[in-house]
Amino acid sequence: MSSTRHRPMITTESATPKPLHREPPQRIASSDDAAVRLRAWREGDREPFADLNADPEVMRYFPATLSRAESDAMVDRIVDHHERYGYGLWALDVDGRFAGFVGLSTATFEAPFTPAVEIGWRLASWAWGRGAASTSARRVLDAAHTEFGIDEVLSFTSVLNAPSIAVMQRIGMTREPAGNFDHPRVPVESALREHVLYRWSA
Ligand SMILES: CC(C)(COP(=O)(O)OP(=O)(O)OC[C@H]1O[C@@H](n2cnc3c(N)ncnc32)[C@H](O)[C@@H]1OP(=O)(O)O)[C@@H](O)C(=O)NCCC(=O)NCCS
Repeated sequence: MSSTRHRPMITTESATPKPLHREPPQRIASSDDAAVRLRAWREGDREPFADLNADPEVMRYFPATLSRAESDAMVDRIVDHHERYGYGLWALDVDGRFAGFVGLSTATFEAPFTPAVEIGWRLASWAWGRGAASTSARRVLDAAHTEFGIDEVLSFTSVLNAPSIAVMQRIGMTREPAGNFDHPRVPVESALREHVLYRWSA
């Protein structure tokens, strides 16, 4: 029988927008109906991500806010990182709305502990204060070794960034007492230059 027989048209368009890289394993992502969910980045995340990167409150512990072009370039680097390593900073949905990122990245700047895998987070301020960062970061640490073979994860932030240090402590990371360092990518004259160092081992 001929294969040219008329078949009903199948539309491939789905309600879920196309991911820009591979989705995270289920134990990192959590279930579809979870209030806090990690997933692959999508084109549509660029706009809300640029909004949070332009918010001085979110960027209070960074040297500067980001322009739209700088924010988009960061998304491109995040997607490249996922393609290169198979893991990275995942997009975070809180109650189904893009809220920022939580995940892993490779720190390559000059320091005694680099190169290293770092865990990081950046959320829009509407998503703060409900455990979304620490809930998803815990999932990432729980899966780091079994899913990606990562034995050690570091985290660092300005000594002034109390909310981020609190996340490191909440997820069970340990401070390196002698680990404070001056971040080479923060201007010398900035009060944000001195960083704390936290560590987690599988
Ligand atoms: C760092 C940052 C992610 C912390 O966000 P956060 O919401 O305070 O962190 P958590 O997800 O751990 O939530 C903890 C807060 O939620 C509350 N909470 C509510 N339900 C909770 C739950 N189920 N589990 C844990 N905490 C919960 C906690 O009491 C705490 O509130 P508090 O700060 O008033 O004490 C956020 O401030 C941020 O994005 N900052 C800007 C970017 C930044 O500086 N990134 C780090 C750079 S290295």
